[in-house]
Amino acid sequence: MTKLFNIANSNAITESANILKEGGLVAFPTETIYGLGADALNEVAVKNIFIAKGRPQDNPLIVHVSSQDDVEKLAHLNENAKKLIDVFFPGPLTIVLKKKDIVPDVTTAGLDSVAVRMPDHKLTLDLISKSNSFIAAPSANTSGKPSPLNAKSVEEDLYGKIDAIIDGGNTDIGIESTVLDLTSEVPLLLRPGLVTVEDIEGVVGKIDVHKSITQSKVDLDSPKSPGMKYTHYSPNANVVLVENSNVVDIAKQKGESVCLITFQKDIDVKVEKLIQVKDNRDLSSKLFDVFRECDREGIKYIIVEAPKNDGFGLAVLNRLKKASNEIC
Ligand code: TXA
Ligand code: MG
Repeated sequence: MTKLFNIANSNAITESANILKEGGLVAFPTETIYGLGADALNEVAVKNIFIAKGRPQDNPLIVHVSSQDDVEKLAHLNENAKKLIDVFFPGPLTIVLKKKDIVPDVTTAGLDSVAVRMPDHKLTLDLISKSNSFIAAPSANTSGKPSPLNAKSVEEDLYGKIDAIIDGGNTDIGIESTVLDLTSEVPLLLRPGLVTVEDIEGVVGKIDVHKSITQSKVDLDSPKSPGMKYTHYSPNANVVLVENSNVVDIAKQKGESVCLITFQKDIDVKVEKLIQVKDNRDLSSKLFDVFRECDREGIKYIIVEAPKNDGFGLAVLNRLKKASNEIC
């Protein structure tokens, strides 16, 4: 049985923290997406996350902390880490550092590094601190499916497989945190997010961007972050990413059963579902939920106008490329 808690219920956090202390699994909102949490230091609990999600064992988890000071309990800090924690914690930035022995191998999938993040979400911070531990949490979806932006999406994938879900409404950002590897001298961006390359370079100087982010297809031979080599964010519908053509023409070509996602305001096209977005933030806050809605409605094609490849656009485009079956 999966318990459903509403965030407005005053006991939700205390009861959920107790479940985590006992080694259970709780899904909770963050500012990015919903996470599926377990005590990061409890090997059995962490193993259960992999089972519930159907997640490959070699894909490490992010450990969530409730204060800046806690990072040092899990990892060896360096100068770049100190500066970035100061500016971006709490927030949608995950940093990868050399791990301390306290972190079990199952949490980091056997790597000698650990990914750490402090979410910018009051409820989640309360939950982590009341659990008296650190919370390992991947996205609260079945592996390969779009990340969940609300409790309904978590239920769809994980009801009956986890102990509780905290319903805190729709998340704000809608795509996962930026992941930055700080174990090498020059930091390496492993996953783009709302904290942009420019934001990071403003604090630590020039960084490298992993080639899988700039290429359209991932190099399966040398994934720096194990998560890079798996299919991601895929709805059942075919996602068509339109970079170099006119979205309206492509929508017309595909004919019936089309969801069109576009930045354009005045367009003349008949489609089953039309999502007009203002900017990248608007798009990211809706994207994964629109994917899930289209699957519920049996839509065949999701045609998306590509954002510009700069700033936050890099992150949105990265998710779209990973989800797409066709780029034109
Ligand atoms: O916004 C987020 O980051 C959400 C919320 C719940 O915090 N979490 C999330 O977790 O997206 P997940 O497991 O879906 O993605 C974690 C990513 C994966 O690509 C994983 O391979 C990478 O971080 N990662 C974790 N530990 C790592 C490590 N030690 N070295 C390199 N990459 C790591
Ligand atoms: Mg995920």
